[in-house]
Amino acid sequence: MTVTDQLNRPVKDLRISLTDRCQFRCTYCLPAEHVDVMRQQSQPENHMSFADIIKVTAAFAELGVSKIRLTGGEPLLRKGVDSLIKSIKKIKGIDEVALTTNAGLLDPVLDDLIDAGLDRITISLDAIEQDLFEQITGTQFAVDKILQSIHRCAGSALKQVKVNCVVQKNINEHQVIPLLSHFRGTGVVVRFIEFMDVGNLNQWQSNQVVNSADLLNQITTKWPIKPKAASQIGEVANRYEFIDGQGEFGMISSISEPFCHDCNRARLSPSGEVFTCLFAASGHDIKPLLNTPDQLLDAISQIWQGRADQYSVQRQNILKTNNKHKKIEMFMIGG
Ligand code: GTP
Ligand code: 5AD
Ligand code: SF4
Ligand code: SF4
Repeated sequence: MTVTDQLNRPVKDLRISLTDRCQFRCTYCLPAEHVDVMRQQSQPENHMSFADIIKVTAAFAELGVSKIRLTGGEPLLRKGVDSLIKSIKKIKGIDEVALTTNAGLLDPVLDDLIDAGLDRITISLDAIEQDLFEQITGTQFAVDKILQSIHRCAGSALKQVKVNCVVQKNINEHQVIPLLSHFRGTGVVVRFIEFMDVGNLNQWQSNQVVNSADLLNQITTKWPIKPKAASQIGEVANRYEFIDGQGEFGMISSISEPFCHDCNRARLSPSGEVFTCLFAASGHDIKPLLNTPDQLLDAISQIWQGRADQYSVQRQNILKTNNKHKKIEMFMIGG
């Protein structure tokens, strides 16, 4: 049984946030100075068990989901993510499992994750210069260690390795060329993300966004590039390849070029709420239905069929009328 929402969009991709905790304090996500942040994070005992996550994933798979992305916060703060991956891969209809991580805890568990069947990985990295990396992430973690982990991933059996870089005006625009120079020719796909107004903590202002078009101009002065076709419906990034054959990169332009029209992504929070949009004010609590599979399936189906979200398309109008619009934080439901 497949379902579509009010805008005729199917559900294909489930992003599961394993925890809203993170050992980093990125200024645009979990700003350290924000006194309310720790209070907003849930206690580990309130996180869904892996057994319950499997039940929800199986229900989504019956409704058409074939891609799973494990995210956070930092998903590798949970122990035994490899066993979760193994179980998810056994669910009928699931073709692939991906992971989004800051890579700080990746090295010791990478082999186990790959052995468990992890297909793809995305690593968040906004700067290649140590000082700036520390400033953005609020940690003193060595950027070289992150780079080593990324290169280990690239040389592994993983089918795809991506790097996500959120670009903020006057903060890390100058890291775009160094990041591309570093990863060109390695098979790692760097994607530059327009800084978004996710959540209410990051004090987002439209003048902090660097338009993808401007970045592309900057990149083309250095290397000749050409656009590449999308690999799947609902892909968030516009892809480009280097004409000299040194690989590809992507631009994710949720602000300047919203992609809600084919958004097929559902999100599950660590405490068991289904979110139908990254910018939703609240989710749907499905915990009470975990032991009644038919009701769980029916509830998720109703949630998706009732969905009409297209926040990025409506952003300007929404912000004009109410710029205090309540939204879930990114660290709670991941990217
Ligand atoms: P796959 O398709 O599984 O490869 O994942 P992806 O390409 O969507 O990558 P990822 O999950 O890393 O998303 C990259 C970034 O795009 C996120 O960190 C967000 O900033 C942004 N993004 C992803 N999904 C959405 C979405 O549904 N809406 C908006 N506005 N932005 C999104
Ligand atoms: N705008 C764009 N991307 C964001 N991410 C976190 N917050 C934002 C934001 N405000 C990205 C992170 C990571 C992914 C989980 O989401 O950099 O790559
Ligand atoms: Fe942690 Fe990712 Fe948020 Fe940074 S963006 S604080 S790494 S969850
Ligand atoms: Fe999907 Fe909401 Fe993002 Fe639009 S803003 S692409 S509906 S998650």
